[in-house]
Amino acid sequence: MTKTYKLAVIPGDGIGKEVIDAGMKVLLHMEKQSKGAFVFESDYFDWGSDYYLKHGRMIPESGVDQLINYDAIYFGAVGDRRVPDHVSLWGLRIAICQGLDQWANIRPVEFLPGIPHRLVHPNPESLNWILVRENSEGEYSGIGGRNFSARPDEREVAIQSSVFTEYGCERIIRFAFELARTRTRKKVTSVTKSNAQQYGMVLWDEVFTRVSKDYPDIETDQWLVDAMAARFVLHPEDLDVVVASNLFADILSDLGSALAGSLGIASSANLQVDKRFPSMFESVHGSAPDIAGQGIANPIGTIASAGLLLDDLGLHDEAAKLNQAIRQTTSEGVVTRDIGGTYTTEEVTNSIIKNLST
Ligand code: NAI
Ligand code: MG
Repeated sequence: MTKTYKLAVIPGDGIGKEVIDAGMKVLLHMEKQSKGAFVFESDYFDWGSDYYLKHGRMIPESGVDQLINYDAIYFGAVGDRRVPDHVSLWGLRIAICQGLDQWANIRPVEFLPGIPHRLVHPNPESLNWILVRENSEGEYSGIGGRNFSARPDEREVAIQSSVFTEYGCERIIRFAFELARTRTRKKVTSVTKSNAQQYGMVLWDEVFTRVSKDYPDIETDQWLVDAMAARFVLHPEDLDVVVASNLFADILSDLGSALAGSLGIASSANLQVDKRFPSMFESVHGSAPDIAGQGIANPIGTIASAGLLLDDLGLHDEAAKLNQAIRQTTSEGVVTRDIGGTYTTEEVTNSIIKNLST
C-alpha cells in the first residue's frame, strides 16, 4: 500500500524559493526511489512579501487554519527589502510557529566532511551538538507596544516584554532531556541569563533543576548565555543537547552554523511535539537578499531540513540515507561559494541526488 504524505510547501522570499526548489527535487527523487512505498502530495502556497504587497498581509486570514490538515510544512525563508522585517517575520514564520504551537525548535550543529570550519579543533567531525530552542514564548511573545509616538523631541517609548511560563519552560526542558536520552553523550546544558534577567530566567533555572531530578541518567550543566557563546568556540566538545530561550537559541544557532562553516548548511525543525498540528521544517538562514536570484544559494540547510521532515514522518531510513548523501557531496568538494566552492545550487542538489542513488 502506498502511503501518501500531504506537504504544505511555502517557498517564501529571496533564496527561500531557490532552496525549496532544491529540497523538493530531492524529496521527489526519494519518492521515485521508494517504488510506490510513499508519495508526497504537495500544495504550494505563494505566501510571502509579494503576497503582502498585493494583499496587505503575509498570509490570508485563514492561512494558519489552512495548514492544519497537512502532515508537514516545508518552508523556505521570509524577508524582503520592500517589507519591514518585523512585519514579514511575524506575519509568516512566527504566525505559523506560534499559531500551530510548534513549541520545540531543534537545530543540529553538524561538522560536515570537506567543509572548512572555523574552529581550532583536532577532530571537528567528532563534534555534534543540537540546540533546542523554546519556540512559543520567551522574548518572542510579541507583547508590548509603542507609545508617545506623536510627541516631539524623540521621546518615544517602546516596551517589549518577555513571557516565561512554568508550563512553557517545563515542556521544552523535558523535551531536551528526552532528546538527550536518545543520544550517546546524554547531557543537557541549559542556557539563560538569570543573573540579569531575574524573573523569567530564574523561573527557567528553577524548572530546569526540578525537571533534571526526573532524569538521573542525564548529565546536566548550566551556563549564562555570554559565557556559552565563548564556550561554543573554545570547548565545543562539552556540548550535546543545549536548551535555551527563543532569542538565545536563535543567536547561538547562527554562531553554531557559522563555526561549522556556513549559515547555509544549518537545518531546523519547528516541532509540534504533541502531534496536534503539523510541524514545520526550514533552514536556519533567512532569505539572503544579497545573493537571491543568482542560483548560488547553498541548498544544504534546506535539504537537511527535508531529512528532519522525513524523520518526523517516520521515514528514518530515508532520512539517514539523505544525510549520508549530503556528507558524500560535501566530502567530494561539491559545494557552493559560501563554503569556498564554485558550484551552483542546482549542481549541489544534483550531486546529492546522484549520491542518493549510489
Ligand atoms: P540571512 O540568513 O538571510 O543572511 C545572512 C548572510 O548569510 C548573508 O550574507 C547571506 O548571503 C548568507 N547566507 C544565508 N543563507 C545562505 C545560503 N543558503 N547560502 C549561502 N549564503 C547564505 O540573514 P539576514 O541577512 O540577517 O536576513 C535577511 C532577511 O531574512 C531579513 O529579512 C530577515 O528578517 C530574514 N530572516 C528570515 C528568517 C526565516 O525566514 N526563518 C531567519 C532569519 C532572517
Ligand atoms: Mg535566526
